[in-house]
Amino acid sequence: MQTIHIATGKPYDVLIKSGLLDQCGQLIARVHSPCTVAIVTDNGVPVHLADRAEASLKAAGFQVHKVVFEQGETHKNLTTLSMLLEYFASIPLTRGDLVVALGGGIVGDTAGFAASCYLRGIPFVQIPTTLLAAVDSSVGGKTAVNLQAGKNLTGAFWQPLLVVCDTDILARLPEDLLADGAAECVKYGLLGDAELFELMERGALRSQMEDIVARCVAMKGRIVAQDEHDTGGRQLLNLGHTLGHAIERASRFGLTHGQGVAIGMVLITQAAIRRGLCDAAVLPRLTESLKACNLPTQCPYGQQELLDGALRDKKRQGGTITLVVPYAIGEAKLLSVPVEELSGWIDDGLKA
Ligand SMILES: NC(=O)c1ccc[n+]([C@@H]2O[C@H](COP(=O)([O-])OP(=O)(O)OC[C@H]3O[C@@H](n4cnc5c(N)ncnc54)[C@H](O)[C@@H]3O)[C@@H](O)[C@H]2O)c1
Ligand SMILES: [Zn+2]
Repeated sequence: MQTIHIATGKPYDVLIKSGLLDQCGQLIARVHSPCTVAIVTDNGVPVHLADRAEASLKAAGFQVHKVVFEQGETHKNLTTLSMLLEYFASIPLTRGDLVVALGGGIVGDTAGFAASCYLRGIPFVQIPTTLLAAVDSSVGGKTAVNLQAGKNLTGAFWQPLLVVCDTDILARLPEDLLADGAAECVKYGLLGDAELFELMERGALRSQMEDIVARCVAMKGRIVAQDEHDTGGRQLLNLGHTLGHAIERASRFGLTHGQGVAIGMVLITQAAIRRGLCDAAVLPRLTESLKACNLPTQCPYGQQELLDGALRDKKRQGGTITLVVPYAIGEAKLLSVPVEELSGWIDDGLKA
């Protein structure tokens, strides 16, 4: 088992190994004495996963309740949040009890936010069941739901008590869900871990899942521990995301987040090479590793569509925007550029 320690203000461990779901009860009992637990999941998460988590928790002496909400981004909202809070109160969960978020990023973000505000905050455990949740959303303590005005517009920083990541669940994911998370794995490699990048390049994701997830979590953990509340360095995690979000938007969300980020990373790399900042050898290696993960590398949109989307980026601050620029495999830096220069970067990114 790999144990990655996340050194945030309230520190915690991420446990990574095949088969951990059936041991989650005893693993959670190491960090929290037996109590009442509400397992939160959505109806797209295979039912047997919640049943197995429940059995393991009961065997370890926990009292278990389960609540399931409707899958999909449109249900990551205040209505679901309110339903969860009322459900916790009806059990009732007390300060000494626990929420277990079992699912992808939507479950983790929504259940985590509910745990952060119920009784002014009760502990929660993440059991990620998608690759994206395992390598990204379950670590770092950002929780949120969407508002009508946009994604993740209300939430809290609320670190989990523990993250239990069963790589056997991830190895069985359908190809499209795996590809979505794989884009983030390539991102971590490109921005700070050349050995991780090589593993992704070799198409080793399914065969070396534990090592790859552990490297991603370690990378995210290091960055988050230095900038827990997202005021600076955490922006490195946005590599490929400014243009990636613009691509997702231009496709009216026909392209997934991972597909947008994959193309976004190619564009920013191409632009950095044209500007003499990045080693030209990075581009063919990046496109090969994305292809190995069934991710796209060609941008179907033009300069204006990308610029419109990128200018709506949340990270824009007044007249400047922070770009995450790759310099080499395993090295990226933050570059603050005036907004007027963004169109030039996009132009360079689009030129093959
Ligand atoms: N908190 C953070 O730091 C952070 C970081 C990145 C993304 N996010 C958020 O994460 C969300 C996306 O997460 P996601 O990609 O995991 O999406 P998701 O949670 O919607 O999961 C995708 C789909 O897969 C289903 N699913 C879950 N586990 C499965 C399994 N084992 N087998 C088959 N199907 C399964 C889900 O029910 C859902 O329908 C977004 O809302 C995004 O804003 C948060
Ligand atoms: Zn992402």
